[in-house]
Amino acid sequence: MAKEILMRDCSPKGQVRVLPSAQDYTFGLACRIFMNIKDDSQINKLSALFADITSSQFSVPINIPGTPFNRAVKGGKKMRKELINVIRKRKDEIERGEDSNARDLLTRLLKKAEVTEMEITKKIIGLLVASHETTSTAITMVINYLVQFPHIYNKVYAEQWRFANSKPEGKMLTWDDIQEDEVLMERGM
Ligand code: HEM
Repeated sequence: MAKEILMRDCSPKGQVRVLPSAQDYTFGLACRIFMNIKDDSQINKLSALFADITSSQFSVPINIPGTPFNRAVKGGKKMRKELINVIRKRKDEIERGEDSNARDLLTRLLKKAEVTEMEITKKIIGLLVASHETTSTAITMVINYLVQFPHIYNKVYAEQWRFANSKPEGKMLTWDDIQEDEVLMERGM
């Protein structure tokens, strides 16, 4: 997925807008990790509703048509409705035994009998809010520092190639590889 986003946003352009790209990446990744959603059109639909919620989350709480708060309330309702559809589809899959390998957050939550559908939607939206701006901003800051400090960038770049070349064709980078990366770890990236 990271590769797809890099090819789409970075490869063909002279100038790269890192924050929007990192936001797309983290939102798509969260949809995969939390609900195993990989379909672009579904991710885009959820992302638009999520933008309505987050763009107004620090607004004056006046709920009349036309206010940012009203847009966030409407966005929240639509997003919960959308997530209920995702939850019901998953419940059906579990009942039909088609979800035996899914180890994402949604299946784990559904296997806890005491959690209602509405509680699950709220947990997922809460985690999307907690993970989205934080992670995309962190990625953007790392890129910003790498641009500002080319001598560090060069070391990171060389280190990444060393990892890439040490991996057999088609093998992905693992968390252990990242922890071995002395240049990134030294600088708390
Ligand atoms: C670079 C990325 C992130 C940063 C800088 C960050 C930062 C923080 C901070 C400062 C807090 C408050 C801690 C406190 O005062 O108690 C917090 C809480 C929390 N974060 Fe993150 N976070 C990041 C990524 C994530 C991600 C990816 C998730 C979910 C997948 C997440 C979920 C949460 C949750 C659920 C809490 C509330 C924990 C609690 O109060 O029990 N965060 N985060």
